[in-house]
Amino acid sequence: MKKIAVLASGSGSNLQALIDQVHGQEGLIAVVLSNRQNAYALERARKANIPAVFADRKQSAHDSEYDQKILQILQAHDVEAVVLAGYLRILTPILIDAYKNKIINIHPSLIPSFCGDGYYGMRVHQAVYDSGVKVTGATVHFVDSGVDTGPIILQQAVSLTGREQPEEIAAKVLEIEHGLLVEAVKLFLTDQIEIVQRRTIIR
Ligand code: GRF
Repeated sequence: MKKIAVLASGSGSNLQALIDQVHGQEGLIAVVLSNRQNAYALERARKANIPAVFADRKQSAHDSEYDQKILQILQAHDVEAVVLAGYLRILTPILIDAYKNKIINIHPSLIPSFCGDGYYGMRVHQAVYDSGVKVTGATVHFVDSGVDTGPIILQQAVSLTGREQPEEIAAKVLEIEHGLLVEAVKLFLTDQIEIVQRRTIIR
């Protein structure tokens, strides 16, 4: 059974979906890491008896040293793939190169809209609200050296009426994220995703 790690900085509802629907089935969550000591995601891991590690960025001189420490933890747990489930740090090449095409991220918009530098959390949904678009959604993609630019695995749309406030948009999108991430991770763990240049083909 393939071992994965989940990196999370927040409440971990996406992590919880992976715990409930993937862990012990298509794969095993060997470790959950967070850059935030009080991230509820760590509590969710503990409740599921999954090793939960707070990696304190302040203990490292720079991002590369921090990622080197994270890499050591991943390797110590025999991790073969990494899922970013609301992880609010940009990965350095140390992790990206070590897990080429094996790092999966979920972004709460339909990439290439409302993504890239500065587009995270509520900033995404505020931008969606400000733009007046009638369709938003979520994207699960592989992580490459860019920000939200790796090959897209799955996307799901969410229709908007124009009456929603940004918080309501966030809630509507989060609602579909969990199933999308679980489906993408299952496809990955059962080797059903083929990467052909900048796109993926689901076998
Ligand atoms: C989700 O909206 C995800 O798309 C984004 O961060 C949020 C994480 O939520 N990357 P949670 O911590 O999984 O509840």
